Amino acid sequence: MPLDDASKDWLRARFGDRVRFDEPMSRHTSLRVGGPAEAFVTPTDADELAALVVGARRRGLACLVVGGGTNLLVLDRGIRGIVAALGGALTSISAETAHRGQVRVTAMAGARMAALCAFALRQGLAGLNFAVGIPGTVGGAIAMNAGTPDGCIGDVLEGLRVLLPSGAERHLDRRELAFGYRSLDLNGLSDPATGAAAVIIAGRFALASGDAAAIRAQAAAVMQRRKARQPYDRPSAGCFFKNPPGGMSAGEIIERAGLKGKRIGGAVVSERHANFILNAGGASAEDFLQMMALVRQTVAERFDIVLEPEVRTVGS
Ligand code: EPU
Repeated sequence: MPLDDASKDWLRARFGDRVRFDEPMSRHTSLRVGGPAEAFVTPTDADELAALVVGARRRGLACLVVGGGTNLLVLDRGIRGIVAALGGALTSISAETAHRGQVRVTAMAGARMAALCAFALRQGLAGLNFAVGIPGTVGGAIAMNAGTPDGCIGDVLEGLRVLLPSGAERHLDRRELAFGYRSLDLNGLSDPATGAAAVIIAGRFALASGDAAAIRAQAAAVMQRRKARQPYDRPSAGCFFKNPPGGMSAGEIIERAGLKGKRIGGAVVSERHANFILNAGGASAEDFLQMMALVRQTVAERFDIVLEPEVRTVGS
């Protein structure tokens, strides 16, 4: 249901200047599209996040937790209820030496992946170079098991701190985590009654002390390769589709389908990397939806391959 006055009063009283109403999500997504969130809250710490999640649940309000908005297509009519944005808050990163050169790094969910990679480089820690250049937040990267052919979050994550829908916190060991290709299944922690999901608060990574100069050189090479292959001059959500099983990458398939440069409204398939759909200016979410449908249909007809979006669509 839409936010009523009592709910707005609660949000104002509890979260002060951390809440904004009718906030355009185009300001908070890397695609730069998306209608308004009825309420947009940036909690400053885990306690405030818990108060928000529990208070919303008690009032029957939907509460969608987002990271940096880098893998999100928000529809043009926006998002009912509350959006809790962690990118920009809950950003601390700390290290603790374990044994025999192993170092545990704990990063809060709102920390940028770029900040986590930079932290590891400064400390001469190996294990995260696959992630150099991955946009978004640590929480978002864990939630989707972000990665590249060189590695993924599930390879280095040792444990997870989550907020359950009840407001209680839980620590999960890596053995309890069901990572898949670009996925982490936390459905078992959802509230069956309301469907409210558990929220990732922090991740603990197992890294190893190494040769700082060599690690830095490798990171620079990864970044250079990325920049040579991927478009950075227009807003995008990174790779739009997951690579399907079978060996051929989504980018190659979309290119072979003849879709490079294809344009619908302001949404354009990149000439440089066909798995990037760019906002070439003034695009709407509808443009992206139509482009997604066109790409999927064309690829299905030409190659009998079903492309699954990596980008998550939310809102109405
Ligand atoms: N290719 C084409 N045409 C294209 C794009 C790619 O023929 O338009 C070919 C390339 O020549 C290459 C193969 O496809 O032979 C794979 O391309 P690339 O090395 O660019 O890797 P990718 O599989 O397209 C993956 C990740 C990227 C990540 C790169 C880093 C997925 C879905 N994508 O891309 O992640 O940056 O590896 O090498 O796993 C993201 O998830 O948002 C993302 C960008």
